[in-house]
Amino acid sequence: MSIRDFINSETNILCVIGHPIKHSMSPIMHNIALQDLGLNYVYLAFDITSDKLKKAIDSFKTLDIKGINVTIPHKETIIQYLDEIEPLAEKIGAINSIKNEDGMLVGKNTDTIGAKLALKDTGFKLKSTNVMIIGAGGAAKAISYSLGEEIDRVLILNRSKSRALKLAEILAENYNLKVEGKELTNAILKKEIENIDLLINTTPIGMYPNIDNSPIQKEFIHKDLFVFDIIYNPLETKLIKDAKDIGCKTLGGLDMLINQGALAFEWWTGKKPNKILMKNKVKELLELEKC
Ligand SMILES: NC(=O)c1ccc[n+]([C@@H]2O[C@H](COP(=O)([O-])OP(=O)(O)OC[C@H]3O[C@@H](n4cnc5c(N)ncnc54)[C@H](OP(=O)(O)O)[C@@H]3O)[C@@H](O)[C@H]2O)c1
Repeated sequence: MSIRDFINSETNILCVIGHPIKHSMSPIMHNIALQDLGLNYVYLAFDITSDKLKKAIDSFKTLDIKGINVTIPHKETIIQYLDEIEPLAEKIGAINSIKNEDGMLVGKNTDTIGAKLALKDTGFKLKSTNVMIIGAGGAAKAISYSLGEEIDRVLILNRSKSRALKLAEILAENYNLKVEGKELTNAILKKEIENIDLLINTTPIGMYPNIDNSPIQKEFIHKDLFVFDIIYNPLETKLIKDAKDIGCKTLGGLDMLINQGALAFEWWTGKKPNKILMKNKVKELLELEKC
């Protein structure tokens, strides 16, 4: 049965908004899971530029859109228009999911738990680990907040040092852990990586189409590292390939993507989606399109 067979006058609408939005994997993974459960919902993608954000918010209420995913560039600016926001997302200052509860728009950040679940599913033990996060943007913030309670130390390395320092400062205020922020340079990477257990790349370095780039030189990687690259396109980045060559355990960004989506799906519909189905569909599409 095709997804269209479900659409009628009672169909509930879910969507993702962002700009650009053309390459979003969210419609494909949510629609396959909705169809699998036979839920009368449809998930659409809307290209919304920043100047139209307020109007888009009003339309969620007018059209009774039940759930919304939010991606670049609106994750932070949208907060001012929401009626309620979960405490962790408020601390982070960014959301990626909204639920429309009878006209009340509630914001949440599922990237946080999505990343932690993906790591835990590999069997990696977060307790007392020494973590290096490359990047200090929205994803770095969400991930470091979600790991903050369990890890022992985190080092944030970022191209703009001021942003690394700012994130380190906020983490130190909120968690009882050793935290430092430094500029992302080869010299610092080489020196600091020796004592690291978990390396997380949260920058777009290595993302399609720049697939030959990596945030770290291969010779700096040691085999005791667990390497997590949150990029999912390509499915295997140069960083992940290099780390595998060295003998490291690795994790790509696809599981985080699926987890954050599945958490939002369950929040909106009250049903657990089939994550394997969602993952296989996204994988199939990425492999097919190589985009
Ligand atoms: N797997 C998933 O579910 C998932 C979820 C969210 C995001 N992501 C991916 O994560 C990446 C970052 O997303 P985000 O929302 O955190 O973006 P963001 O808020 O714009 O942050 C980007 C970060 O990357 C750094 N950066 C960008 N280009 C760089 C370059 N050429 N060299 C060095 N550093 C660079 C930025 O440094 P400056 O501060 O110096 O600008 C900043 O720290 C994207 O590739 C996105 O697709 C994946």
